[in-house]
Amino acid sequence: MPTLLKIDVSTRGDYSVSRRLSNQFVEQWKLTHANGKVIERDLAKTELPHVELPWIMAAYSDPSTHNEEQKAALKIGDDLISELEAADEWLIATPMYNFAVPGKLKTYIDHIVRIGKTFNANADGSYTGLVTGKKATVIISSAGEYLPGTPTEGYDAEKPYLRAILGFIGVTDVNFIQAGSTWKIDRGVEKPEDFLAAFSEQVTAAAGKV
Ligand SMILES: Cc1cc2nc3c(=O)[nH]c(=O)nc-3n(C[C@H](O)[C@H](O)[C@H](O)COP(=O)(O)O)c2cc1C
Repeated sequence: MPTLLKIDVSTRGDYSVSRRLSNQFVEQWKLTHANGKVIERDLAKTELPHVELPWIMAAYSDPSTHNEEQKAALKIGDDLISELEAADEWLIATPMYNFAVPGKLKTYIDHIVRIGKTFNANADGSYTGLVTGKKATVIISSAGEYLPGTPTEGYDAEKPYLRAILGFIGVTDVNFIQAGSTWKIDRGVEKPEDFLAAFSEQVTAAAGKV
């Protein structure tokens, strides 16, 4: 059964541009994958501790030596990794915060990027991503635009980072949709429906043709 993992990040509920676009994606995806299953991972509603000493000690040591605290620290990531492995396709919908990913998404990434689980380190210093055969769509909502060739292009640390970290764990088929200039909705310059409509072709194309 085709399975989509939908990861939302924004805490802005119905005001969120990234969520409204990810919902649009899912509507289309359901049309193009009649028997498809959608797994929802809403990071705004997921309690995620930062990775700290018990996690670090456990992630790089023999599981047979782990104490209860270390086992519990790794279990969070184990469950999230099982969830993402269960999906053939991922949809990540996230705001830009301070030119980068919001902290909640970074914490999620810290849990799922695990040696021996999602990547391996090789003797020659190279790495091998272990999550293969997946494709991903990333929707980024941002107040600014960061278009190539414009003065703000260099500030965008989010798209390059997400491309790098997804590639690192083996997901190289990644399609980015940048929903920039969301300030136009917030300041009443553009109606939300008009703003969202401008991205619907990109979003529905990414979700597949019927
Ligand atoms: C804490 C914070 C930091 C932000 N930093 C940036 C930024 O660096 N660049 C930018 O273009 N927009 C920035 N924004 C604006 C959001 O990216 C924008 O409002 C986006 O639409 C939020 O996504 P959402 O609509 O899905 O909630 C920031 C917003 C917040 C709350």
